[in-house]
Amino acid sequence: MSVITICNHKGGTGKTTTVINLAAALGLGGKRVLVVDLDPQCFLTQMMGVREPPPQESSLSFMAHDADINTLPVARVSGFDLLPSSQYLTRAQKKLGGPMDSFWIKEALAAGHDYDVVIFDTAAALSVYTMNALVASEQVVVPVTPEYQPVVGAGQTWQTCQLVREKLNPSLSVPFFLLTQVDARKRDHAIYSQYIRETYEGRVLESVVRTSASLAETTRDGQTVFDHDVVSRGARDYANAADELSRYFFPDDVLETSTSIPTPIKEDNTPEAVPVGSGGGSMPHAWVPLNRC
Ligand SMILES: Nc1ncnc2c1ncn2[C@@H]1O[C@H](COP(=O)(O)OP(=O)(O)OP(=O)(O)O)[C@@H](O)[C@H]1O
Ligand SMILES: [Mg+2]
Repeated sequence: MSVITICNHKGGTGKTTTVINLAAALGLGGKRVLVVDLDPQCFLTQMMGVREPPPQESSLSFMAHDADINTLPVARVSGFDLLPSSQYLTRAQKKLGGPMDSFWIKEALAAGHDYDVVIFDTAAALSVYTMNALVASEQVVVPVTPEYQPVVGAGQTWQTCQLVREKLNPSLSVPFFLLTQVDARKRDHAIYSQYIRETYEGRVLESVVRTSASLAETTRDGQTVFDHDVVSRGARDYANAADELSRYFFPDDVLETSTSIPTPIKEDNTPEAVPVGSGGGSMPHAWVPLNRC
């Protein structure tokens, strides 16, 4: 069993897109996957075409003593189960300020369930829900677009994870970074990709997710990229990322999603991405080095 949080304190870095397509890829590889939408804005819930449920049937139901993951009202979507979010999470947060309120999800998972993988989608803001996810997780994946603000957000997320590991959850591994929305035509992307690879050496996935029309389109039609266009570059990129992550998360169990995805056909005239670590060049003038802690 693997419990994974997808997190970056900067918004719009591809967290929700990563959760959906990583879950779908793992589902295609035969894993039983539960996705939990912990973002009060409910984008993942909406993107999968699931109606926002009443609060007691949403991911908020985790935040109680008697939460039983086996009886939670999950929706069966494309290859995985989804516990949807509710906008009520924002209001409920005011009542969740106690010292033990970061442990609800960990407690609920410890009671036992049949999933091979649980994946949490989190909001950019560091909330009690994100803390619950990090306290319950063994793994963190940080989607990071190679631009200034997402890179700063990734550094902050790294620091949060270190704090959680020291104070609340010693089982939390050092995060993996997944470069997302990479555009090989942008010089800045090559520069920031190289910075990320040098700063977090050994924890940055070789696989990158390039900008992809099919990924942008799936946000509108309630499908994963594998439903939408299985030969697209988005499908290929997420299959590769899932395959690579599986080698870390399930070392005894080689996932075969990438071999089941056909070679992509070019869907637009954007050049294929070069290996991002090879971009080189000096840092932008405004660059402020981040402390890796
Ligand atoms: N590789 C990609 N290529 C093109 N568009 C993408 C890609 N990844 C994500 N997007 C688009 O970028 C936008 C932001 O993506 P997403 O919602 O996954 O980010 P997020 O980190 O979850 O955002 P938030 O912090 O608001 O929750 C969405 O419109 C999504 O469709
Ligand atoms: Mg999101």
